[in-house]
Amino acid sequence: MHENAGMTIRVGVIGTGNIGTSHAHDLASRVAGSTVTALFDADSDRADALASELGAAALPTFEAVVASRDVDAVLIASPDQFHAEQALACLAAGKPTLCEKPLAPLAEDARAVMDAEVAGGRQLIMMGFMRRFDPGYAELKSQLGPDGIGDPLIVRNTHRNEIAPYGLDSALSLTNAAIHEIDINRWLTEDEYAWVHVLTGRSGPLTPPGQHDPLFVLLQTTLGTIVEIEMFVQSQLGYEVSCQVTAGHGVAEMGDGAYVTTMRARQRGHALPAQWLGRFQEAYRLQLQGWITHLGTGGPMPGASVWDGYVDAVTATAAIASLRSGERVPVVLPPRPGLYA
Ligand SMILES: NC(=O)c1ccc[n+]([C@@H]2O[C@H](COP(=O)([O-])OP(=O)(O)OC[C@H]3O[C@@H](n4cnc5c(N)ncnc54)[C@H](O)[C@@H]3O)[C@@H](O)[C@H]2O)c1
Repeated sequence: MHENAGMTIRVGVIGTGNIGTSHAHDLASRVAGSTVTALFDADSDRADALASELGAAALPTFEAVVASRDVDAVLIASPDQFHAEQALACLAAGKPTLCEKPLAPLAEDARAVMDAEVAGGRQLIMMGFMRRFDPGYAELKSQLGPDGIGDPLIVRNTHRNEIAPYGLDSALSLTNAAIHEIDINRWLTEDEYAWVHVLTGRSGPLTPPGQHDPLFVLLQTTLGTIVEIEMFVQSQLGYEVSCQVTAGHGVAEMGDGAYVTTMRARQRGHALPAQWLGRFQEAYRLQLQGWITHLGTGGPMPGASVWDGYVDAVTATAAIASLRSGERVPVVLPPRPGLYA
């Protein structure tokens, strides 16, 4: 794509719901070097409305977006279960793609995408794990290592949604929500997981029978770092994400992204956003800008790769096995393909 340096990257968006619409707005107006030329959504009224707002074409199928001569690159923001099929179509067409997380809910489907990309010999897909672009996580990571507080020993994460965004299903809490922590803790620790153990306990009042919420996900990396995640999709308190690292020479903590605390009427604190757009808006924009700049200049892919998406899916699949068995489950990975060295 670097032959397009200095030119505008024309993006086709598949899925124009909550996040697809936000990404399309960013690409159309807040990201330099991009425009949105085509859209598809299973709800054609939704796609039509956004298309007319942005001056893009609403196309009848996702395949038409992928094949369009007016589309240089594709953004996949459909529901999780469609990502792998749509990513495979993008690979077959040779179109660079930003795929929202997860690559697939299950490891075997993620593996099929990785195998296809490896067979093509070219990294075309970047994964939408936008926390890697978040200034809060970036600062947290910058505190680690020999010049900072040392190696991470224990990482404590909370991830709380106000209400379950896609319905309360415990496996979905792992493959759709905790997958963010699964990914960002690999990035923070620069390590892979050895095992995962999902603990269930007393559930919150809105949890349907047979489901568990919150979930406590315990992982250990190959170097021995303990990672714990409180995943509470129906917390009722708002959207809240935190990460605290205990390291060899100190502790670093990232709150939920609020930088101003207000004291008023005997209260001290700050408002919580209703959902992720309120917390990670800047990370989404930085991720899109990084992707577009990479496509325009031919520089290195700045975000998570298909290998990352695959490893995250293997870990989430092992976590589901642990949820069901109550046992600790090993995370078993194949050798990393040379494409992702
Ligand atoms: N990175 C993040 O922080 C983040 C945040 C939110 C959502 N997401 C991911 O983005 C994806 C979409 O989430 P959302 O919150 O926007 O969901 P949503 O329900 O708001 O929107 C999904 C849209 O996809 C459409 N759709 C359904 N089937 C389709 C298909 N086969 N092809 C194309 N479109 C189809 C629906 O009509 C809907 O408009 C999910 O995979 C989710 O995991 C990521």
